Amino acid sequence: MKDKFGREINYLRLSVTKRCNLSCSYCGGKKNSDTAELTKEEITALAEAFAEKGIKKVRLTGGEPLIREDIADIAEAVKNVKGIEALYITTNGILLSEKAKALKEAGVDGVNISLDTLDSEMYKALTGEDGLERVLSGIESALSENFKRVRINSVLVRNKNDGEAERLILLARDKKIDVRFIELMPFSAQGENEKLLVTTPELLERFPFLSPEERKEEGAAEYYTAEGFSGRIGFISPRSAKFCGSCNRIRVLADGKIKPCLGNSIAYDVRDIIFDKEKLSQRIDEIIFNKPASHHFEDGEKFRNLSLIGG
Ligand code: GTP
Ligand code: 5AD
Repeated sequence: MKDKFGREINYLRLSVTKRCNLSCSYCGGKKNSDTAELTKEEITALAEAFAEKGIKKVRLTGGEPLIREDIADIAEAVKNVKGIEALYITTNGILLSEKAKALKEAGVDGVNISLDTLDSEMYKALTGEDGLERVLSGIESALSENFKRVRINSVLVRNKNDGEAERLILLARDKKIDVRFIELMPFSAQGENEKLLVTTPELLERFPFLSPEERKEEGAAEYYTAEGFSGRIGFISPRSAKFCGSCNRIRVLADGKIKPCLGNSIAYDVRDIIFDKEKLSQRIDEIIFNKPASHHFEDGEKFRNLSLIGG
């Protein structure tokens, strides 16, 4: 369905847990063990209600979604909902080599993996975990399962890992992977966010050999190709080029709140009406219709940790 600004909302980001096995500073900085999570049945009922409103694409997020023991069952249930055409998952990759096969069998179409460095010491410094090898083998598992899409998400932070971009893009040269750079958003208490931000225009200057892709793909990223590369390089630029005018997303948080905009603090609790079809349907209509026009990252407002929202 359309919101009051005429934007067609057809993409649901569904967070299945707040828990995470990493503690990246830009995301929130702390491992979270809060287990107030929707059950598989609640998640399925929500997916059904959203599918009736025209949601066609679902992405499972976290926290770290693969922490949930029943993640493959959840994936299968959501993929079987009438109207859901595509199901994706965003993960930090730590548990991916163990779960890739089950996710593929459950009907997951693609996996986005967060990875900000290819240096194992730096990985440990950024995430608090000595996990680079596990993520790299997770990427290999995803590739061998032949998901339709395997993508890497990288957030560069100035004076921390901004020198890693040149190495990270080589993953797209050597493998059928899209490597995407996401501009840092103000989701933590790290302060002085502006000074830490590495913008897309700055990166494009560093990569003069990239050519913009002619066919635009729906979504937040702009893609570029390079000669001899198997995958593409993408840029998600919420700071240097707001894309709210074409936003097609809505979010469900792990505890059953519906969040219509990533960059606004509003969220509506619907947990108590999840199994009341009529009430839920009406509530979703109101929430989608009133989706805010745009985020306000530039106002310096501090937002909930991204780990609690699912990106
Ligand atoms: P694709 O379906 O592969 O295009 O993935 P995606 O970009 O929709 O999902 P992913 O979980 O990989 O998200 C990557 C990052 O894009 C998120 O963590 C956010 O940082 C950013 N992003 C996604 N949706 C929004 C949005 O609605 N607004 C803003 N500002 N950023 C977003
Ligand atoms: N700014 C931009 N992206 C972020 N992510 C986490 N925190 C931030 C932030 N402050 C990204 C992760 C992951 C995606 C879901 O969100 O790198 O790939």
